[in-house]
Amino acid sequence: MSSDLSPIDKAKFISAKRAAQFVESGMKVGLGTGSTAAWLVRCLGEMVRDDGLRIKGVPTSTRTAELARQVGIEVISLDEARWLDLTIDGADEFDGDLNLIKGGGGALLQEKIVATASDQMIVISDASKEVETLGAFPLPVEVIPFGWQTTRALIEETLVSMDVLGRDTALRMNGAVPYVTDEGNHILDLHLRRIGNARQLALVLNQMPGVVENGLFIDICDRVIMGFADGRVELR
Ligand code: 5RP
Repeated sequence: MSSDLSPIDKAKFISAKRAAQFVESGMKVGLGTGSTAAWLVRCLGEMVRDDGLRIKGVPTSTRTAELARQVGIEVISLDEARWLDLTIDGADEFDGDLNLIKGGGGALLQEKIVATASDQMIVISDASKEVETLGAFPLPVEVIPFGWQTTRALIEETLVSMDVLGRDTALRMNGAVPYVTDEGNHILDLHLRRIGNARQLALVLNQMPGVVENGLFIDICDRVIMGFADGRVELR
């Protein structure tokens, strides 16, 4: 680890390094997306190169696939793997029940599919992601481009009867154009501030035509490894 790292990157690196110890030769491993997951991929790449670790990795985005190949991890598709031993990924928020908000990096759809197809999901994180109640981080919702404004209006209308504090929604942009996910969809970020009933909201959102998936991961994560800049880790 470079000593030039910022405290937050040190914390992310420490959590990734600890999580890498759960990976054993022969495993099929889901590889998350984002800056914390990128540390994990680099750690696993080192273990492949230096310690003879043999794994097959299923990336959750084109970005992660590219990095995994660069560091020497054998990459396979989820259809080739069918089922995974373990997925390790970052998160934008996690609560005391290990429910998550994910999708800040725009990869929530593949991330949820891959994590759900795994025996175990470990989240790696710095301490800033731990919250009492989910919702301060805007909730990403992946929507089909066709009629997205109608889908957005439907979501806003539905939020009125949901246990949330805020109801503003924003189309995620990439400069002057809408952000496009790996599946060719758009993302609406819901500024809810506090989500009183995450399980109910996740179910309601996914029943709406035009919604592909939402960033609430309920009962999917098994363990959180939280890293600190001084080298400590805490397991949740
Ligand atoms: C990507 C994600 C990421 O895991 C999440 O945004 C956390 O990213 P980072 O590790 O960069 O803070 O859900 O879709």
